[in-house]
Amino acid sequence: MPDAAGLAWAMVQRFMQDESGVTLRDDQSYLLEARLGGISRSFSFPDTPAFVRAACAPGATAPHRRALIDAMTTHETLFFRDAPFWERMEQTVFPSLSATGRPIRIWSAACSSGQEPYSLVMMLEESFPELGKRTEILATDVAADTVDRARNGVFTTLEVNRGLNARRMVRHFDSVAGGFQVKATLRDRIRFSVHNLVAPGLDPSDCDIVLCRNVLIYFEDERRRQVITRLRRAARPDGLIGVGSTETLSLRSLGPGWYANAEKEWR
Ligand SMILES: C[S@@+](CC[C@H](N)C(=O)[O-])C[C@H]1O[C@@H](n2cnc3c(N)ncnc32)[C@H](O)[C@@H]1O
Repeated sequence: MPDAAGLAWAMVQRFMQDESGVTLRDDQSYLLEARLGGISRSFSFPDTPAFVRAACAPGATAPHRRALIDAMTTHETLFFRDAPFWERMEQTVFPSLSATGRPIRIWSAACSSGQEPYSLVMMLEESFPELGKRTEILATDVAADTVDRARNGVFTTLEVNRGLNARRMVRHFDSVAGGFQVKATLRDRIRFSVHNLVAPGLDPSDCDIVLCRNVLIYFEDERRRQVITRLRRAARPDGLIGVGSTETLSLRSLGPGWYANAEKEWR
């Protein structure tokens, strides 16, 4: 007979699978207290299972559901994650897009706290300013509190030290209480919003680049296939899809993490 914590973990597993597609394993049940204990107390629940029952119940209040999703998704990220991926971006992808002369659209799906889209705008600002002016960037994530953080663009010393050199910090950030904030001129170039890859919703279309990095690993096979179809629909036929270094797509590979949406070769 499972105890209250065991039942609560099963509820969390089911909730996260239904709401975000994220699979949590039985042997990860230690996350119940580690990630939800403090939140339960901050909402004044007597214990964590009581919070879980309230947050997973049909008709649960938005703040409870939102806190549960935010806590149980993994937001690990860093600036310019996976150097070879960004080298390809700088040496091949952005130069090709520069040559088109037309407006460009990029979707950073599952952007976490924003390091990925901010890496994009920093690279554009530094090396492709003309392209940057005609590039629209949409950055989305299922976790609403994390999207708020991303939009705010404030990062701790530890966070900026993960992937940024001193030159970039000085150029692109202002020192603020609590850390360093991305300059408003760069923040204004990104449209942040909450978007769930496994729920019906409005996706962008005609994207030249769709980034969906280090999130497919959390989905089971069928979900992953559905999400990939969705990403491909959002991309232009000659567009590119970027995934994490441990993720692969059954599409033409164009270098570390890069795939062609369709047959047409990217040069
Ligand atoms: C490990 S982070 C990856 C962040 C960034 N793309 C990177 O590679 O550094 C995974 C992100 O996927 C988000 N996520 C999980 N399920 C999602 C879903 N169904 N729809 C959109 N985002 C989701 C999480 O909230 C989390 O911020």
